[in-house]
Amino acid sequence: MDIQVTLTTTPKQKPAQDKLKFGHNFTDHMFLMNYEAGKGWHNPRIVPYGPIPMDPSSSCFHYAQEIFEGMKAYRTADGKIQFFRPEENFKRLNSSCERLVIPKLDEALLLEGLKKLVEIDKDWVPDAPASLYIRPFVIANQEVLGVHPSVNYLYCVILSPSGAYYASGLAPVKIYVETRYVRASKGGMGACKTGGNYAASLIAQEEAERQGYSQVLWLDGVERKYVEEVGAMNVFFKIGDEIVTPELDGSILPGITRKSVIQLLKSWNMNVTERKLSVEELETAAKNGTLKEAFGTGTAAVISPIGELKVGDTVTVINNNEIGELSQKLYNTLTDIQWSRIPDPFGWITPCC
Ligand code: PLP
Ligand code: COI
Repeated sequence: MDIQVTLTTTPKQKPAQDKLKFGHNFTDHMFLMNYEAGKGWHNPRIVPYGPIPMDPSSSCFHYAQEIFEGMKAYRTADGKIQFFRPEENFKRLNSSCERLVIPKLDEALLLEGLKKLVEIDKDWVPDAPASLYIRPFVIANQEVLGVHPSVNYLYCVILSPSGAYYASGLAPVKIYVETRYVRASKGGMGACKTGGNYAASLIAQEEAERQGYSQVLWLDGVERKYVEEVGAMNVFFKIGDEIVTPELDGSILPGITRKSVIQLLKSWNMNVTERKLSVEELETAAKNGTLKEAFGTGTAAVISPIGELKVGDTVTVINNNEIGELSQKLYNTLTDIQWSRIPDPFGWITPCC
């Protein structure tokens, strides 16, 4: 399929590199493609960034039939632009589509479109440690109020030159175990990147911030016994010599950083396991001193060390509230690969331009 390009005639002023926040600025162009029953996905195009006309009856506004992705483009020291495992994001986009009954997209075309879009806006890709956050999404836009899968969709990609997700950078964060609210439940949509999961999480996030915490540790929605994710990240704990991350059971988002961390740990011959981890086990490890490190993983923050964990009324300080050796090593290795400061033995880097 040919990708039509319409360039802007009014390019915007780029923000100062040292003032970049996460997701506040957007580049000059965006990618669009439509779906219509009978016609399939068609009209892939790059157009000037701007508002999307939407009818107020569009189904995504009412029944949240929408999905999204999040990945980054990096500018290397020699000025080249590259992606980190974008094929994984497009694969996950299609698996989210499947769960929300959205027609699947051609992953090769999505990658081609992304490369073309980023190439057009390549001057917007900041230098390290900032990067270009990429947000592809699909919204249902049939103009009807009945509850059923839409017959029309819009695929869109926007680009945001971004600094650190957490103002504190790699500094350890304080989290508590959330026992009242649930993010996702087995059989639900937890394994998908869809807005509803994030809407469900906001109240807990707000309460955590009110109490002086930055994130919550989500438990499973059925027994409220097993650890699932931390905020909008996957979570790892180093207990003794074992590095544990909750197994993917349908309610956890299969993070690409999580997958990369597991691959890295295995390549270092470390003992990494994907299994059920109960809060009780975590509490015991915290009490007997075997809880050595804890960290979240995600595209935005890469590695986010956990310095303080509150379980019930007990507050445990992890690794003296300092960045653990393992968290630091994982952060350094992942970001060094992302910016090609070290070789990439895993084939994780996809060149753009
Ligand atoms: N879990 C949730 C709920 C997320 O939103 C994210 C972020 O994208 C992750 C985990 C981490 O996924 P990834 O490493 O692919 O960014
Ligand atoms: C992540 O990339 O780690 C995220 O959680 C992205 C967030 C903005 C949804």
